[in-house]
Amino acid sequence: MTLLIASLRLGRLVPSHNLTCLTRHLSVKATYKPGDKMTIAGKEYLVDHMNNITPHLLSHVGKNLHLQKHHPLHHISQRIIKYMYGRYLSPRGNPLFSVHTHLHPVVTVHQNFDSLLIPKDHVSRRKSDNFYVNEGQLLRAHTSAHQSELISMGLDNFLVIGDVYRRDEIDSSHYPVFHQVEGVRLFTKSELYGSHQNMEEFQLFAKGEPGSRQPPLHHPDTVQLLETDLKNCLMDLANTLFGKEVEMRWVDAYFPFTHPSWELEVWLNDEWTEMLGCGLIHQQILCNSGVSDKVGWAFGLGLERWAMKLYEIPDIRVFWSTDPGFLTQFTFDDPATPVKFKLVSKCLPCINDISFWIPTESEFEPADFYDLVRDVGGSLIERVHLVDEFTHPRTGLTSHCYRIVYRHMERTLTQEEVNQIHHIIEIQAADTLGVTVR
Ligand code: DAH
Repeated sequence: MTLLIASLRLGRLVPSHNLTCLTRHLSVKATYKPGDKMTIAGKEYLVDHMNNITPHLLSHVGKNLHLQKHHPLHHISQRIIKYMYGRYLSPRGNPLFSVHTHLHPVVTVHQNFDSLLIPKDHVSRRKSDNFYVNEGQLLRAHTSAHQSELISMGLDNFLVIGDVYRRDEIDSSHYPVFHQVEGVRLFTKSELYGSHQNMEEFQLFAKGEPGSRQPPLHHPDTVQLLETDLKNCLMDLANTLFGKEVEMRWVDAYFPFTHPSWELEVWLNDEWTEMLGCGLIHQQILCNSGVSDKVGWAFGLGLERWAMKLYEIPDIRVFWSTDPGFLTQFTFDDPATPVKFKLVSKCLPCINDISFWIPTESEFEPADFYDLVRDVGGSLIERVHLVDEFTHPRTGLTSHCYRIVYRHMERTLTQEEVNQIHHIIEIQAADTLGVTVR
């Protein structure tokens, strides 16, 4: 493994008295070569050519914000757990749901995609959208990755809460790490329809083609009962957190692992916001997990999205702040305590553009540039977006212009400080992405 300290490379660019303030934001750039070992949340992994996990990203793994006492993401997850515990009780009065908050974030490609029937050529598998450890393993892109294994282990009702990782655009509502809650509930025939003397008159499945090897289709009554239970559960959850008055609507959706599928949107702060995805679990998944005699539903929601709406937090980076001005606003023991978040100070942004000729469309991936910017600028990067693209009529070369918005959460940056970081981004982009800065 080559360790390359970015600030040392900068020695010639930055006067030394400026280095300490700057290097706080610059990560130690480590490049892993095939054959190297990478330690992720306490476990060692063998790296191959697919690895695209940057040091900046790696520094977030294992932080487990959802487990940190008094963190807003912890408060919200506690409220969701309490709600689910109270809603579904066994005849003896015990909660039916088990809660899994410590599952390791590295999963197999099989868990993240195949076990959920995501087609082999589906765009969501791309290297440009995920953080791969190696060909067979990645940082989970969603908590749905654990559905199948937990069902196979014999669980019927469970929540998985954890950190998930996506290479995404950079703006105030997207961060490469966020947190999700996955919910799964399975039913036997008598759990769904109730116990009756004439049980044989009730059917979980519609009659399929005799001898067909396809998994059975749900009987229309099964669909209706599951859909009602699922939607009531999630609407009551939204009412519990956002209040009785909140307006909601269901939108038809598509996920490879559920059918039918829906998204729940909630009207908050003068806009419809998508709060979760859900649906009836594809029967093939249950058959593959060894429970062909049950049916069920599942949902997945993003904790940051819920917390941002509930507490009126304007920027997703705030969740990673260790500033007491942020954390003390959430220092209370009852997670249902109402809070309207006050941004300590919204310091002024600095905006710098960067333009470069890209090598060729196929050799340049904007996601690689976004990672590089995030890796160099750390949490000072509020937003990066493509503002201009053109192809030179004579040379055929294509130029991209990206706008980078720099903003410190606690103080106003000087233009000089920003210029230095910006310059490092230019150098590294030229060095590692093969672009020619204009
Ligand atoms: N895994 C989906 C995502 O990350 C969310 C989701 C949708 C989870 C539907 C589910 C589901 O369990 O049934 O976008």
